[in-house]
Amino acid sequence: METKRWTVDSGVDEKISYPQIQEAAHFLQRGHVVAFPTETVYGLGADATSDAAVKGIFEAKGRPSDNPLIVHVSSVGELDRLVAEITDVERKLMKAFWPGPLTIIFRKKEGVFSSLVTADLNSVGIRMPNHPVALNLIRLAGKPLAAPSANTSGKPSPTTADHVARDLTGKVAGIVDGGETGVGLESTVIDCTVTPPMILRPGGVSKEEIEQCIGKVDLDPSLKKEDSPRSPGMKYTHYAPTAPMFLVRDSTSMQKQINILRDEGKKVGVLVTRETAEDLSADFVRICGSRHQLDEVARQLYGGIRSFDDTDADVILAETYPPQGIAQAIMNRLEKAAGQKWLD
Ligand code: TXA
Ligand code: MG
Repeated sequence: METKRWTVDSGVDEKISYPQIQEAAHFLQRGHVVAFPTETVYGLGADATSDAAVKGIFEAKGRPSDNPLIVHVSSVGELDRLVAEITDVERKLMKAFWPGPLTIIFRKKEGVFSSLVTADLNSVGIRMPNHPVALNLIRLAGKPLAAPSANTSGKPSPTTADHVARDLTGKVAGIVDGGETGVGLESTVIDCTVTPPMILRPGGVSKEEIEQCIGKVDLDPSLKKEDSPRSPGMKYTHYAPTAPMFLVRDSTSMQKQINILRDEGKKVGVLVTRETAEDLSADFVRICGSRHQLDEVARQLYGGIRSFDDTDADVILAETYPPQGIAQAIMNRLEKAAGQKWLD
């Protein structure tokens, strides 16, 4: 399959129709799969109401079909046609965080979405992305767009069009290149079909910010790390580089761990902040921002993890962060990328 690439300015005016975005929208209307930028990561979009179109997403990504997809809309007004009800809590969340990196799980309206989108659940995850290119594309396509992250399943999510191209060239109809994404990690997913609402995936909006808006929320039990042993070999890794990755509990012990691995003859890559990189000696050092600017770390995390695939590092060590605010999402992704493997 030929993969078209449209380059657009990330600052497009939402209300104007651009020929490149118009063409991408036509592809989507005809049931093709098109990658596009959002403020979190690149999404792999298809018409959420069409089985055939959504099937294309799963095929391109190699994604297991029991994992439901997020639906993207360009306005709150579209929701009445998509969900069974909108509760006061959901309205508050939309008002506070849309457009933005918050996916809300609603009770779905029957007969609207492809059952592949919802994995046959009676709920649907919806968000309105805060990116002019995404909003423009959804509006022009005239359809709610199902869009998981535009990576091969298991790889880190893409934060640039080049990341998408590397994973999916020849497998998707097109890629809208709107430059680098902003947040760098996926949206927070919150289930509002339960009381109190439950965070299923930490992301661009922190638990603290949500609680300021709607009061106490729960965390999915699998996210409560204090309760569960950090056992090796958990079910699956995700967001993972090719070389094995380990999390280093205390950045002051980073050099000691590097030396141990080098003594074993291994080439060592490290993913660290600027502060930790000072005085550090390793084979490949990738800096992902500052310890005092965790938004920066989030933005550069996936690109940093991916960058080791261009090296011959045998093993990767990653710096870790106290899991508060955005660092809750950072640590969730790092733990998955490392398959919960820690070094003290
Ligand atoms: O930032 C994002 O959310 C990106 C961009 C492209 O918007 N999208 C994204 O989609 O990360 P995806 O498909 O990779 O992640 C969807 C997550 C999965 O963890 C899935 O299990 C959960 O949302 N999810 C979707 N619908 C759900 C539902 N009805 N019930 C429970 N979880 C759901
Ligand atoms: Mg994903």
